[in-house]
Amino acid sequence: MEILTPSAAQRMAPCAGLRIGDPAPEFAARSTTGNVRLSDYRGRWLILFSHPADFTPVCTTEFVALAQEAEAFAARDCELMALSVDSLFSHFAWLRLIRDRFGVEVRFPIVEDPTLVVGRAYGMVSDADADSATVRTTFFIDPDGVVRAMTCYPANVGRSTAEMLRVLDALQSVDGAPVLAPANWQPGKALLRQPVVDLEAVYGAEGAADWFLAEAEGRQA
Ligand code: BEZ
Repeated sequence: MEILTPSAAQRMAPCAGLRIGDPAPEFAARSTTGNVRLSDYRGRWLILFSHPADFTPVCTTEFVALAQEAEAFAARDCELMALSVDSLFSHFAWLRLIRDRFGVEVRFPIVEDPTLVVGRAYGMVSDADADSATVRTTFFIDPDGVVRAMTCYPANVGRSTAEMLRVLDALQSVDGAPVLAPANWQPGKALLRQPVVDLEAVYGAEGAADWFLAEAEGRQA
């Protein structure tokens, strides 16, 4: 049996099951907060994320950090849902340890996926893997159940809650208007407008770059 080292976990999963714009695959599963069904989250944002294994160092720091930021996600009408191949009882024992050791109660659901059904549907593990931990995938799912962004980190690098919140803020801010969030965008900073696709506007723009790179008027989130 292979020992799960970060490099082994990194090799095992492709993180390429879905594309941005795909409907998030429906699933029903047991979780630490009861039975969950993806479609029950329609109408709200959902961040569905996998972690390689319970009782591992980086994953523990991620869960502490996410639980501490739970209100910030809730304020954005966004639910969190975690998933790993570990059993429900493993999840419970780990959450109890996190509460006792770090004083943080993880209240968002952690799904058990021992048969890898959900992991395979989301590309967290490859079809070729018979027994595999997921990598650190994160799916940003919009209120219509559509995958809007995803990230994939190796087992040995933890995610940033600040970046998860920033991506969520950016997705929510560009919705419903022809605007774009530039590099390092933060709430309160200017958004960009969609470039024009009209030659007269290209030649008529004041500055050489103004036709494709300009702030959107009145669009600060
Ligand atoms: C972790 O620290 O989270 C971890 C380390 C090795 C393999 C999987 C997870």
